[in-house]
Amino acid sequence: MTNFEDNLRQVKAYFKDKLITYGATAQGADWNSPQSQEIRFDQLIKVIREVSGFSILDYGCGYGALADYLCMKGYEYTLYVGYDILEPMIQTARQLHEGMERIIFTSDIAQIPTVDYAVASGVFNIRLNASYEQWTEYTLACVEKLNTLTSKGFSVNFLTKYSDKERMEERPDLYFADPCFLFDYCKRRFSKNVALLHDYNLYDFTILVRKQ
Ligand SMILES: C[S@@+](CC[C@H](N)C(=O)[O-])C[C@H]1O[C@@H](n2cnc3c(N)ncnc32)[C@H](O)[C@@H]1O
Repeated sequence: MTNFEDNLRQVKAYFKDKLITYGATAQGADWNSPQSQEIRFDQLIKVIREVSGFSILDYGCGYGALADYLCMKGYEYTLYVGYDILEPMIQTARQLHEGMERIIFTSDIAQIPTVDYAVASGVFNIRLNASYEQWTEYTLACVEKLNTLTSKGFSVNFLTKYSDKERMEERPDLYFADPCFLFDYCKRRFSKNVALLHDYNLYDFTILVRKQ
């Protein structure tokens, strides 16, 4: 059992170190490659039903890559809110998107308005010294928050506990979540319309929760 707040501070230090080392790049957001970052976005945005006229929260936005990805794919949001617990990520995201309309970044959770959709990519992968149970509890509290903040739906991804055993043993600092448990939790708690995507060739799965 570890002090959870200390652990969270270390998680922030982990991501800060990535940002300092690699800058505003996929690696700076702790992804192996831009391709793997995009494959995850491809899955997460499946929750969005329209190509324009929607608002979206990017929970754990990093340097805001999703805002650019959505534009590149032709989506026209009325508002993109990027939220991250790490202030340097938010500063970097603001610099990169300076002057761009309909995009805001914040590290203050109280500033997040209710939106149509929320997505969270890679936010819960690093658990460091927190126990599996502690991290699950923390993750569920954040997922509840995604539900509270959205009217139409949200999506979230996790590393999967169906990863190779050796890989998981090598990285006890990572959170390999249980897709069946999370699917069940979301189905019972949030909506009848929940999808589990576990077919995109990463050690990863995505849950889509549609409310309408
Ligand atoms: C793997 S990075 C991914 C960033 C971005 N979603 C992307 O795909 O490019 C995870 C991000 O989540 C942030 N993060 C971690 N825990 C968080 C939390 N509880 N709330 C908000 N952001 C968090 C980290 O600071 C980091 O920027």
